[in-house]
Amino acid sequence: METNERHWPALTIFDTTLRDGEQTPGVSLSAPQKLEIAAALQELGVDVIEAGFPAASSGEADAVAAVAAAVTRAAVCALARCHEPDILAAADALRHAARPRLHVFIATSPLHMRHKLRLSPTQVLQRARQGMRLALDLCRDVQFSAEDATRTEPAFLHDVVALAAELGVATINIPDTVGYATPAEYAEVIAIARHAAAIRPKAVISAHCHDDLGLAAANTLAGIAAGARQAECTINGLGERAGNAALEEIVMALRTRPERHAVTTGINTRRLCETSALVARLTGMVVPANKAVVGANAFAHQSGIHQHGVIGNASTYEVMRAEDVGASTRIVLGKHSGRHAFEAWLKQRGVELAESERQAAFAAFKRLADTEPHPTERRILELARPARMQPAGWKLLAVAGEDGPVTVRLADPDGRVRQGRGRGTPAEAVARAVAEATGLRLRLAACRAGFESRGDGNVATVTVEFDCEGAALRGQAIAACEVEAVAHALVDALPAARAARVEVSP
Ligand code: KIV
Ligand code: ZN
Repeated sequence: METNERHWPALTIFDTTLRDGEQTPGVSLSAPQKLEIAAALQELGVDVIEAGFPAASSGEADAVAAVAAAVTRAAVCALARCHEPDILAAADALRHAARPRLHVFIATSPLHMRHKLRLSPTQVLQRARQGMRLALDLCRDVQFSAEDATRTEPAFLHDVVALAAELGVATINIPDTVGYATPAEYAEVIAIARHAAAIRPKAVISAHCHDDLGLAAANTLAGIAAGARQAECTINGLGERAGNAALEEIVMALRTRPERHAVTTGINTRRLCETSALVARLTGMVVPANKAVVGANAFAHQSGIHQHGVIGNASTYEVMRAEDVGASTRIVLGKHSGRHAFEAWLKQRGVELAESERQAAFAAFKRLADTEPHPTERRILELARPARMQPAGWKLLAVAGEDGPVTVRLADPDGRVRQGRGRGTPAEAVARAVAEATGLRLRLAACRAGFESRGDGNVATVTVEFDCEGAALRGQAIAACEVEAVAHALVDALPAARAARVEVSP
């Protein structure tokens, strides 16, 4: 079997978070939000960013134009129906793009042609031809999509794809628009497309799958195995109805099982969690805790048996390395946890107990776990540490200011109340407020915020990395909102010993 990556073909990653992803019911992104996501996608290493559908509104056209002007490394794509005004709007929005791509589409299934377009197959072919010709006149890089391709008559799909190849379209996309195909079927449809496009060997066949039956990633992988060389996907699997294939799932499946797929991507996988958290924050679409790759529980272990396994070797219960996606393995202490994991967890936090103390601490922890389903790190430490080890640290008394400047009230290690205020993004504002309140030299290095749905509502989960008086520190917390979670993560990780050295005015 070929395992030498140098010989593997490259797979183009076409991200459509800003177009198909924005079609998620309830999601609408402003131009600055699109720009922020586009910058993150470019850093992530996607090849093509589909920025939107300019004919939708003038605001959308402006947002696509702003992304097109700002992005320099990735190609920027705009979508248009095979209608002259749509195509002109898309070409106009792309006018300042360094690498513009114009994407035209028309539905080809009997159902869509009859009930939506009210056109005969011949008329659809004619519209497709006119649309592609106009697009090719306006842009060198054109993509064509046969909407609802998987419910299209195979012979007609063959004709449409052959037409696109003949006209010189560079990328021919085969959407499973309603998530209807199974992996074997989708591979067959891709094979039809490849056959039809054979007259133009350089034409790239693209996979675009929706998740109505939960098969979007599996179908995309089947399409790649059948010769598709572009995968269309969205961060967190956002998209119409059940969404699109998730970028993080496709990329990590390719990376984790290279011997099954033998293609390469330019994705910097270490940025996956950070990008996912940004998209979740800006779209308001909470990432379920059990979401593959980027969910808060994707590398979390709660049962004693699993914890014992991963403490020995993470591969026992993890198929990819957490750090490869920008996450970390988490031992979640709860009522299922065993003594082994509990003691390892304490040890990681520098708490070494005598045998008699260990038994008492474990018993107290089990009592706590029965009454508090999600005990915080601080709560467990308070309970497990014998009195001789309880630090006189900083305590967060209050935090306010979700939508503006943030104010924090802290108790210092001697119990005196201190106050600070800060501005900026939620994480920066809290870090500045904490720095002012403590008088510590504190610089935020990274903040990863996610949102989880819990039985009783949504919670924010936050990991912060920061530098405090020259020491690199890390904190984690879960709270009702991001600002509160960042404040807990920072304050709970502040070292008491350093705090005691700080000169603060009364
Ligand atoms: O799902 C679909 O058919 C699409 C096309 C417009 C590419 O998103
Ligand atoms: Zn789609």
